Amino acid sequence: MTGRPGKRDLLSVADLEHDLLTVLERAAAMKRARATGDLSPTRPGTNAAMIFEKASTRTRTSFEIAMNDLGGHAVYLSPKDMQLGRGETIADTARVLSRYVDVIVYRAYRRSDMAELARWATVPVINALDDREHPCQIVADLLTLRERWPSGFKGRRLAYVGDGNNVLNSLLLGSAIVGLDLVSATPPAYRPPSDLVATAQRLAQASGARLTFTEDPRAAARDADALYTDVWVSMGDEAEKEERERAFAGFQINDDLVGHARPEAFVLHDLPAHRGQEITDAVMDGPRAAIWDQAENRLHAQKALLELVLRRR
Ligand code: CP
Repeated sequence: MTGRPGKRDLLSVADLEHDLLTVLERAAAMKRARATGDLSPTRPGTNAAMIFEKASTRTRTSFEIAMNDLGGHAVYLSPKDMQLGRGETIADTARVLSRYVDVIVYRAYRRSDMAELARWATVPVINALDDREHPCQIVADLLTLRERWPSGFKGRRLAYVGDGNNVLNSLLLGSAIVGLDLVSATPPAYRPPSDLVATAQRLAQASGARLTFTEDPRAAARDADALYTDVWVSMGDEAEKEERERAFAGFQINDDLVGHARPEAFVLHDLPAHRGQEITDAVMDGPRAAIWDQAENRLHAQKALLELVLRRR
């Protein structure tokens, strides 16, 4: 038998279609509580296994602290130190870890491996990034936007400039769910996959979000309320480094591009940044950067997501 009927996996932002706004409210409440010293230990005695095939600063740390705040515990597992790295199957790993822990957080190179783990795990699996999506990142991003737009997402315009990668994929789905207008500027060869765009457009019909696409970063930035970028060479894309740097020349967020946005517009980056490539030092270190709040919000978002999938003990 595979999986467990009714377990709550979070592999895609689309899995949050009916919960995303509630998760954002809960994350904001937990953030306010934490500032007063209340860590919200609502899941005492729970345990998380965290398998990270790739490097991480923010995701790993925020999940570990989130489990600690909730009253639980997290175990960090690197495949190079696990039998997984010596050929034990993902299915067998999932079945064994499910006997120990209440949730598995997985950062994978491939979506197919993420799906395989979720298929065999009998506890919830949370996608901490794969080649298709980065859903937890986008929950923190939307929390950051929500803090700056108390009146909500409706009528706001977010411009994403850069690679049509896992971050943009999740951002498309998240924007579509919450009703945020998103314009994506990517080079033609780096557009997000058409099947994912179709899913996002379907979700957008329900929320009223407008999802548009261009190859012109300035057109995207024009009158935007916020700008967002990510690295041009993601983990796993290193062999394409030179080709990508050529393709993305002109897609940098710098003072000139920010000048096309609204005067009060701010800038997001999920980090780590390659300063001087997709974003300049001046923007990252300037008054428009919401990047550090965005990084902090990973913690509050992870707590709300963990609380959603973890059963009370
Ligand atoms: N944004 C993000 O996922 O950062 P890490 O790779 O450091 O976890």
